[in-house]
Amino acid sequence: MRPIKDCNLSGSKYFGLNEGNTIKSEALTIKKADGVFLWAKQGKKYLDLFSQTWSMPLGHNNKKVNTAVKKQINKITHLRTAFFTENKSGLAKKLFELAPTGLTKVNFVLHGSLAVEGAMKLAINNYENRQKILYLEDGFHGRSFATMGISWKMPGCKYSDYFSNGIEVKKNLADIEGKMKSENPAAIIIELVQGNGGCKILGKDFVRGIRELCDANDVTMIIDEVQTAFGCIGKMFLCENYNVVPDILVFGKALGGGYPLAGALFKNKYHLQSGDHSFTFAHCPISMAAGLAYLKELELVLKEKPVEAISKEIESSLLVLEKKYKNLRDTRCIGTKGAIDVLDNEGNPDTKTADLIVAKMLQKGVIIANSKCRGLGNTIMLQSPIIITPEQLKSAFCTFDSVLSKIYGQGCKIGQ
Ligand SMILES: Cc1ncc(COP(=O)(O)O)c(C=O)c1O
Repeated sequence: MRPIKDCNLSGSKYFGLNEGNTIKSEALTIKKADGVFLWAKQGKKYLDLFSQTWSMPLGHNNKKVNTAVKKQINKITHLRTAFFTENKSGLAKKLFELAPTGLTKVNFVLHGSLAVEGAMKLAINNYENRQKILYLEDGFHGRSFATMGISWKMPGCKYSDYFSNGIEVKKNLADIEGKMKSENPAAIIIELVQGNGGCKILGKDFVRGIRELCDANDVTMIIDEVQTAFGCIGKMFLCENYNVVPDILVFGKALGGGYPLAGALFKNKYHLQSGDHSFTFAHCPISMAAGLAYLKELELVLKEKPVEAISKEIESSLLVLEKKYKNLRDTRCIGTKGAIDVLDNEGNPDTKTADLIVAKMLQKGVIIANSKCRGLGNTIMLQSPIIITPEQLKSAFCTFDSVLSKIYGQGCKIGQ
């Protein structure tokens, strides 16, 4: 046995790699979280303006969610998927009440990637002999082998081609129609906001066009709402804004209220064989309790605190920055999600400076992120929790402005 003297294990020395962009500059050990804030071990306070990668619209340690979890822990913590609890049945019932019309079945797992794989299996199982899945350029659907095969490709990545039935399509209907006819796919999968790919918001006509092509060519439409369902858009599902109902809708991240929970809602005609997509901990009773409590709480919060005001504030603050700094372009905002592109003086994507901005913001106590990874993403992204106050938001943008002014050499105006 190798004795390890260091009792504060963190960072790449022990964990192989410091994951993700938000903590590129320093590996934080977090000792406490509450609402919109995290506290590091050394006592420094951070505003979590990326909601732990789009996952915490109600902020950290929501009391109702945690109370439900504690109650569940006192009863039972693990059951295999064949068994039910009141929370599991209650969560399914609540989801059917909230789901777009026609989505009458649900499958639960613990991770978005596995939920997407479940959707892929559902689609493939619906046809005699079709294995291919179309996915959009810039699309991102997870980091399992199969989902890497239907996501944007990291240059030189040894895993991304492992699932060879993923066929990329351009973001235009002619290309999609052509590939539907030539490739005979089981499904097409899309995000309505391509979050990881750079917060690219798909147009309504385009998405409705895909729906029509799916109907005309008997192809399953999968909408991946792992990032957009349950809160940050101010609605339960973003597809409601598009007036489009997919055949399979994938969810994840927010639903667990900080506990692992994901899955898919789907139409009656889709089914899996017993054992097709069953995992030891997939129906964790604790996650089920958390999910049900989260949805009840979300309904209340959205009534009291609609996201429009936050959305307007984020958009107008980003536009002020865009006007002030010529290297920032293309502000976009949807719900509590905001994004802006970082360009160099020649107008090319500037991922290095985007990385630097994220790192400097972190040093100043505000967590944001940039798109893609490994220096491939030049879009600065944020997603505020719904419970943020106007003052907290203003102060975060003032920090943003002061970071930019140091990098680009101008004075701080925002928030004064
Ligand atoms: C749109 C989308 N789908 C799927 C996933 C994968 O989810 P998970 O990381 O829980 O496996 C992500 C993760 O960021 C995502 O953004």
